[in-house]
Amino acid sequence: MFQINENYLKLPGSYLFSNIAKKVAAYKEANQGAEVISLGIGDVTQPLAPAIIKRLHSAVDEMADAKTFKGYAPDLGYSFLREAIVQNDFKARGVELSVDEIFVSDGAKSDSGNIQEIFGVDNKIAVCDPVYPVYVDTNVMAGRTGAYNPQTERFENVIYMPCTKETGFAPELPSEAPDLIYLCFPNNPTGSTISKSQLQQWVDYANKVGACIIYDAAYEAYITEEDVAHTIYECEGAKTCAIELRSFSKNAGFTGTRLGYTVVPMDLKCKDVSLNALWARRHGTKFNGAPYIIQAAGAAVYTEEGKAQLKEQVGYYQNNAKTILMGLKDAGYTVSGGVNAPYIWLETPNGMTSWEFFDLLLEKANVVGTPGSGFGPSGEGYFRLTAFGTYENTLKAIERIKSI
Ligand SMILES: Cc1ncc(COP(=O)(O)O)c(C=O)c1O
Repeated sequence: MFQINENYLKLPGSYLFSNIAKKVAAYKEANQGAEVISLGIGDVTQPLAPAIIKRLHSAVDEMADAKTFKGYAPDLGYSFLREAIVQNDFKARGVELSVDEIFVSDGAKSDSGNIQEIFGVDNKIAVCDPVYPVYVDTNVMAGRTGAYNPQTERFENVIYMPCTKETGFAPELPSEAPDLIYLCFPNNPTGSTISKSQLQQWVDYANKVGACIIYDAAYEAYITEEDVAHTIYECEGAKTCAIELRSFSKNAGFTGTRLGYTVVPMDLKCKDVSLNALWARRHGTKFNGAPYIIQAAGAAVYTEEGKAQLKEQVGYYQNNAKTILMGLKDAGYTVSGGVNAPYIWLETPNGMTSWEFFDLLLEKANVVGTPGSGFGPSGEGYFRLTAFGTYENTLKAIERIKSI
C-alpha cells in the first residue's frame, strides 16, 4: 500500500483566502445586491502597461513564424531578460551581479516555496510572525517542522520572530541561532520596512552564525524612503549569506501573467558546495523555463517606455495606500505601513479580534479586508487592507469605514 507524505497532515485548516472567499460568498448570497468592495487579497487591478502589451503582441507574432518561433526556453531564463535584470535592478543601484546568478521563474510564490528544497531537512527555520504563509507551509510539507500546536497557533521546531507594535513590526535577532531566516521587506502583511543599517545587522548576524537569509523583495517597487535597501545585496557581505526573491507581479501587474526571478550569488556556499549550482540543478531538473512571450514582455518592463508607465502604475497604488492611511488616521484608527508598501496594517478598535472586525466591516461597510490573525498569532488584533483596488473603490471603501 502506498503512503502519503504525512507532513501534509500537520497543516491546519484551509488557506486563509479560501475562508475569506467562503464568508464573502455567504454574505452576498444572504444580501443580494450588496456592493462589496474587496481590499483583501493582494491582487492588482490595473491592466498591463501599454509597453508590455505591445511586446506581448509582437512576441506572439514571433511564435507564428518558423523563423522566429521559440520552443523550450533556456531553463534558467533568456539572457536578454537576465541581462536587463542585472543592469536595471542591481547595477543601477551599485550592486554587481553576473547573469549566471539570476534564475528566471514563474513567480516568487513558487520560488519562495521551492527554495527550501536545496537545504537539509534538519535545518531550523526562523520566520516573522505575522508572516506570508508560504514560507512556513512549504517547510512543514518538507518535514522541517514539528506538529502544529493549536494552543500557540505555531509549529514546533520553528523559531518565530514576533513583529509587533513593541518591535516596530520588525523582527529582532533570535536568541537561538537558526539555519534559514526568512525575511520579507517591504513586508506582507504589515507593510513595514527596516532601514538599510538594520538589514545590515541581519546580514552580519547570518554571516556570524552561518545562516542563510531567504530575502523576499516582492514589494521593492513600493519603497519611497531613502534609507531602505532595494536589494539585500546593498548590504556588505550579503553575497555570502543571502538569496533574494523577486516578482514581476506587484511592480508590473504580472499576477496573472506570471514572472519572477531568484538571485543565488556565486559566493554563497555551504562549506565548499555552491548553492548556485544546487539551485541550477534543481531548476534544470524540475522547471522548463518561463514562456518566451512572458519573458519578452518582462524585458519590456526595463525599457524607457516601460519604466515610465510602471512608475505611473505603482504611483497609482501608492496613492491608494496614502488615501487609506490618511483616511483611517482621520477616522481615529491606529494604522501603520502604506509608506513603502501597498499594505496598510490597522489595529482593530475596542479590542476586537481580527475576525470580529472582518465581520463588522463586511456587514456594516460591505468592505473586505484580511484578518491579521490569518498570518500568525502576533497578527491577532490587526487587519490588513491592500492598496491594489481601483482608486474609486478605495475612496468609497474608506468613506464607508469612516461612517461605521
Ligand atoms: C511576500 C510575497 N512574496 C511572494 C508573493 C507572490 O508573488 P508572485 O505573484 O510572483 O508569485 C506574494 C504575493 O502576494 C507575496 O506577498
